[in-house]
Amino acid sequence: MKTSAISMLFTSFAAVARGLAVFQESTTLNSRTEATPQTCGDVSDLTPFAELYIPSITAHVYTTNNDVVTDFIVGNPGTTYLGVTALIFSIADTSTVPFYCLRSSSAYFYTTNQTERAAALASGFVEYLSPVGYIYPSQICGSVPLYRLHFIAANPDYIYTTSTTERDNAAAMGFTYEGVAGYVYDLLSCGSPES
Ligand SMILES: *[C@@H]1O[C@H](CO)[C@@H](O)[C@H](O)[C@H]1NC(C)=O
Repeated sequence: MKTSAISMLFTSFAAVARGLAVFQESTTLNSRTEATPQTCGDVSDLTPFAELYIPSITAHVYTTNNDVVTDFIVGNPGTTYLGVTALIFSIADTSTVPFYCLRSSSAYFYTTNQTERAAALASGFVEYLSPVGYIYPSQICGSVPLYRLHFIAANPDYIYTTSTTERDNAAAMGFTYEGVAGYVYDLLSCGSPES
């Protein structure tokens, strides 16, 4: 089970790498291939933003770090690898802002907002491998909204998704929709023309 989860992960990272290679070579006109490093950042700095679910703390965790994925899977029995949520920048490219990661004993919270970051730190969250990456604060260069949902309870949880279906399902299950965390690249549209 451990082994298969890890190998699934590497398969998926390999697919991402192939996808990136394809869209860099593609002659298909879409806004990402037209993106210029001057305004959009460098697409070769994009990295998978992977999603895990940790049942022992009923929390979703997002990371760009393969070692973190492996540590959770090995160290927290029952951890589920849920796939790649989006592609985000691994370094502070043009037009991006830091996507801070804060954790408490029961939740992982991600925000670009310094006021929210300060409030989380004041309420007992600590910075965790932060920033997790860099995202756009506005919808430019073919990016898509990354929606944030919050399960407000004694044992809270946050979900981040580009999927309106997943957003609406989570809201129907009792999560509160808290708006757009920032703008990212959608894995599903990788290499396909913008409509
Ligand atoms: C940042 O968060 C604060 C507190 O929630 C909010 O009032 C403010 O509008 C946010 N700023 C931006 C740019 O979203």
